[in-house]
Amino acid sequence: MADMTNIGILISSRGSNMLAIADSITAGRIPNARIAVVFSDNADAAGLEAAKAKGLQAYAIPRNGISRKEHERELVAGLHRYDVQLVCLAGYMRVLSSWFLDHGFLVLNIHPSLLPAFPGEHAQQQAIEHGVKVAGCTVHIATEELDAGPIIVQRPVEVLDDDTEETLSDRILKQEWIAYTEAINMILSGDYQIVGRRHQKKRS
Ligand code: GRF
Repeated sequence: MADMTNIGILISSRGSNMLAIADSITAGRIPNARIAVVFSDNADAAGLEAAKAKGLQAYAIPRNGISRKEHERELVAGLHRYDVQLVCLAGYMRVLSSWFLDHGFLVLNIHPSLLPAFPGEHAQQQAIEHGVKVAGCTVHIATEELDAGPIIVQRPVEVLDDDTEETLSDRILKQEWIAYTEAINMILSGDYQIVGRRHQKKRS
């Protein structure tokens, strides 16, 4: 990637992962990237206002009344307008088509489970119901298949006997904020490659 990478972040609601990435950049924990733009498919997303309060370019691109293809076309045009190279999905509640994914962006997603366990919605509740002792989060490369692309970073979180979906989600979320920064730095370092499904360090 270039010396300074432009990140585009897609959100649908609260946007705490987006804010964590912004804070990491401000604090110098992600030294060679900037957030070029934040887009939300939901005009009421709290994250949009929070992003603007941080001085970020943040806009709604709602899906209302347009096809998925048309919506993705608007997103791609917006990301190109801000010269985005790396797209971070951060609580973005839509699966992107291969048409979107074929535009040359590297697209990362974060999911609140240790994939491949518990893909889809309510991953934390799925983990509690299954009775696992360790839950966590995963940052992976987004593919057309939901929560299934090559894994970049995982962070474990112990499941406690009295956990509810809310308490477990809160603890996992704190690890998500760390995981996203780690994953972005790994990607930007250029030191890793994808071999089959595995994201691993290049041999020197
Ligand atoms: C996070 O738990 C993320 O893993 C999931 O949706 C939640 C979004 O939270 N995909 P936020 O909007 O980043 O606060």
